[in-house]
Amino acid sequence: MAFLQTGFAKRLLALYGIVFVLVLFVTDWTLSRYLQQRDLQQLQSSLTHQTTLIREIATPLLGDVPRLQSEIKKLSEVIRLRITVIDPEGAILADSSETVEGLSKMDNHATRPEVAAALRKETGISIRYSMTVRTRMLYVALPVLDRERVLGVVRASMPVTRVDEILSSVSRPVIFTALLGILVVVGAGMIFSHQLTKRIRRITSVAERYAREDWSEKILMDGRDELKMLAVTMNQMAATLRSRIEDLETEKEKLSVILSNMTEGVIAISRRKQCVMANPAAEKIFEFSAAGAQSKGLIEITRHPLLEQIVDQAFRDQKTVSGEIQLSGKIKKILRVNVIVLESHVRDIGGILVFHDMTELRRLENIRREFVANVSHELRTPLTTIKGFIETLLDGAAKDPATREKFLKIVAEETGRLGRLVEDVLTLGEIEQGVALLRKETVDLASELPMILERFKLRLQERRISVENRLSGKPLEVSGDRDKIHQVFVNLLDNAIKFNKPEGRITVWSEQESKGITVTIEDTGTGIPEDSLERVFERFFRADKSHSKELGGTGLGLAIVKHIMEAHGGHASCQSTLGQGARFSVFFPS
Ligand SMILES: Nc1ncnc2c1ncn2[C@@H]1O[C@H](COP(=O)(O)OP(=O)(O)O)[C@@H](O)[C@H]1O
Ligand SMILES: [Mg+2]
Repeated sequence: MAFLQTGFAKRLLALYGIVFVLVLFVTDWTLSRYLQQRDLQQLQSSLTHQTTLIREIATPLLGDVPRLQSEIKKLSEVIRLRITVIDPEGAILADSSETVEGLSKMDNHATRPEVAAALRKETGISIRYSMTVRTRMLYVALPVLDRERVLGVVRASMPVTRVDEILSSVSRPVIFTALLGILVVVGAGMIFSHQLTKRIRRITSVAERYAREDWSEKILMDGRDELKMLAVTMNQMAATLRSRIEDLETEKEKLSVILSNMTEGVIAISRRKQCVMANPAAEKIFEFSAAGAQSKGLIEITRHPLLEQIVDQAFRDQKTVSGEIQLSGKIKKILRVNVIVLESHVRDIGGILVFHDMTELRRLENIRREFVANVSHELRTPLTTIKGFIETLLDGAAKDPATREKFLKIVAEETGRLGRLVEDVLTLGEIEQGVALLRKETVDLASELPMILERFKLRLQERRISVENRLSGKPLEVSGDRDKIHQVFVNLLDNAIKFNKPEGRITVWSEQESKGITVTIEDTGTGIPEDSLERVFERFFRADKSHSKELGGTGLGLAIVKHIMEAHGGHASCQSTLGQGARFSVFFPS
């Protein structure tokens, strides 16, 4: 019965009830009226006929009252009517319900409506309460006429209760029908409204899912009525809505994927310079969270007055303005910002700020500039020396054989350095041009290294430096460019000899791990001061400038090592204890 609680079913049932009771009431009322009328008419006409018959019997007996009385009594018993005969003055001559003695006590009946009408030679009909028989009676009175003269009145009467009886007998089935009807109506109403409520519930529950954007279910509805039509329409609506929402979401996703994967920072601002949206790159640049930045002022999240000025200028001039700003912080970031002004405000967005991080570019530019300056400087020194000595020779120094030889030796040495420098710069440039130029082949370090050491044989002997090669034996294969790998070991061994002390040692060994192979070259030389350890791989960096130059170094050897290793996907590193030696390792990934 839970569904009765729902307003819908309750109201429907109440409406049914009211309509049904009303219909019943009206039917009952009209039916009773109609039956009463009809019955009364029938009763009247039959009583009139009977009275006419009685008049025929009574007329010849008018002169003989005792006989009249007894005849009437007999007749009354047969036809079960009360019969009264009245003289023209209204006195009772005979009455079927009275004894002869009682007749004289009866009132004059001339004023009774039906008798009065009969005395006027009309048919008198009346319904009234009779004191004599104590019940409601129907009276019909007819005049007894002798030509135009009224000789008396014959009146017959019967209780009207019979009509009521008939009516009540009609009422009972009506009430029964009514009760049955109410039962049927309530029952049918309950079933119907239950059915209806159930179907409406089904629509509501699916509609609630739709509201939560859950499209997993369709409204299943049987029948061919309005509810079915509603269900079909709602299903169509849901399908359209779903595809629309999905389209929008894909669009939104696309946009957000683009924005969040951009390396450029993007901040959308309103005309009042409030942050409307920012992508992750922008969050990272200015170190804020976009969620907290919503509707905050641009200056608040970027803390950069110059940026604000650029934005102001763009809004004032109504055109795109670019500028470069520098961010203070751990790393001094250099950003190029483009402020794009939107002509029509789209969803409160008045301008878009795009930030390109120029830090790395500027850093590389600086390195290059420095490198060019360094190269020029490194080239100029030997050239100046060469020029000086040649000029001195030309000025006459050439005449003295000893001086000439000494000067020419210096010139040859400097030319050699110049050659090495040019060679090293070219090598660096070549490696920097990219990995693509590297040839890939399998190089067995265990068999290559003795060949490289062979090249240094003379120098090693000269300085009485011993080499311990622990690689000998098993093949040690790495993948890479054979010539470049040679260069790595040549440069490292060159340093290990150059910076070693006389009668020192060089040890070479390898370690094989799952990630790759590490080869280490250790010497017993001067070592590297701790604060220079980080920088030895930089171009032109020498821990001891004059000493290195004396030894004929270019300062590019380790930079070349580092670049070659990185081009192979590996790296180079160094460890050292000042005064005791240095240990350089190179790692080749497998
Ligand atoms: N084995 C080593 N022992 C001590 N110092 C070294 C060693 N190898 C390199 N260095 C230091 O690193 C600097 C850079 O080396 P490198 O790039 O090969 O230049 P160069 O050999 O021309 O001086 C050297 O000048 C030197 O100071
Ligand atoms: Mg070197």
